[in-house]
Order: sequence, then structure tokens, then C-alpha cells
Amino acid sequence: MDAREMKVKAAEAALGYVEDGMRLGIGTGSTAEEFVRLLAEKLHGGLKVLGVPTSERTARLCVELGVPLKSLDELPELDLTIDGTDEVDGNLTLIKGGGGALLREKIVAAASAQVIVIADESKVVETLGAFPLPIEINPFGMASTRIAIEKAASRLGLSGELKLRRGGEDVFRTDGGHYILDASFGRIPDAEALSAQLHLIPGVVEHGLFIHIASFAIIAGEAGARTLKA
Ligand code: A5P
Repeated sequence: MDAREMKVKAAEAALGYVEDGMRLGIGTGSTAEEFVRLLAEKLHGGLKVLGVPTSERTARLCVELGVPLKSLDELPELDLTIDGTDEVDGNLTLIKGGGGALLREKIVAAASAQVIVIADESKVVETLGAFPLPIEINPFGMASTRIAIEKAASRLGLSGELKLRRGGEDVFRTDGGHYILDASFGRIPDAEALSAQLHLIPGVVEHGLFIHIASFAIIAGEAGARTLKA
């Protein structure tokens, strides 16, 4: 089974949790997109849901495939969100934001009664941090915010490059118009402490550590899909 087939397997298993009439948060990234494709097929078969997309990219795919969408303001409380991840550890703490949608993903997930993470085995880690942590920042005062992040990380014994994400020739802009610094800390043994420190920095809009957000994860590997619970 290749990586794409595993993503499809995880997405298929997640679809089993979608019930008629649900208000559904719809994630961003290649795994979430497999879910959108399968969901669209089910909708054509008669299932009815209303989706809230976590990015413009996901919204475009949903529109293309005929998945009915509402904004989060129209549906401020959701039954279920299904989204991918860049890393997941045994406590179901995640690193997300590789696709740049972490802020909307976190807002949508926080508005959901249940959050199911879908991923292939390569995303499961013992300790978070091999995947650079995306930190969404306000462009204003970027140099000061960068220094503040470095100092906060160093108080926790963390260091590493903070790389301003680019999108081709230009600096990458999120759907909210912000920048992303990808922080290569290597290992993040205490995600809660780092999260708390980052949230104290005014220029930090949000970061990609998702703590106590996932209800469970569906992990697909060679042997099929398994459920990962904290
Ligand atoms: C988007 O901002 C991310 O959080 C994605 O959910 C995450 O990067 C997983 O993407 P893939 O499913 O493409 O690996």
C-alpha cells in the first residue's frame, strides 16, 4: 500500500463516523482531501451534511465536488471535524499547519464536539518536533516576534532555525493574511509549556501544536486502519 492508499483507508474509516444531518468541520491537506472525495460520493448517494471548510483550498475542492458549505458564523457549533495532521504522539497531541491552515483548523476544531484525526503511520511519533512547528505570526514587527519566540524557546531549552515560509517567489500568506515561521526545534518534550510561552507573545497569532483537541486518531498502515486513543 502506498502513502496515498493509506490516506484513503484512514479517510474511509472516518467516513463511518459521519451521520446524516451532521454539521461537519472539513480539514485541509492531502489526507483531508481524500476524505472530501469520499464524502462527496456519499452525498451523491443521499447522505446530507453541511460542511465548514478550514481553508480556501478545501472550500474550492468542496465546491468543485458539490459538498454543501456554510461559514463557521452560520454554523458556530459543529458535531464533528475530520482533519489530517503532520505529527501525532501517544497523547494525541498534534503538530499541524504544514499546509498553512492551522489557525482556521484550530478554530474549527475547537468549535466541534468531536475531532477525528486521519493519518498514515508515518505521522505517528514518540516525541513531537521532527516536523518543523508552524507558528503563524502577524507581519507587523516580525523581527521582534522572531526574537521573542527564540527567547521563549530557549527558556524551555529549545533552539533551532525559524524559517519564514515562502510560497514560490513571495512570502507565504495564510488565508488570514499572516506569515508562518517554521520552527525546527527537533524535539518538543513539553508541548503544553511551549504552547503557553508562545501564546504570551503578542505577534504570535497561533501555533501548530494541537493539545487536548483530538478525540481520537485513525491511523492507516499496511495492516489496515487502527484507532489511536490517548
Ligand atoms: C494543513 O494546514 C495541515 O494541518 C494538514 O492537515 C497537515 O499538514 C496534514 O497534511 P497532509 O494530509 O497533506 O499530510
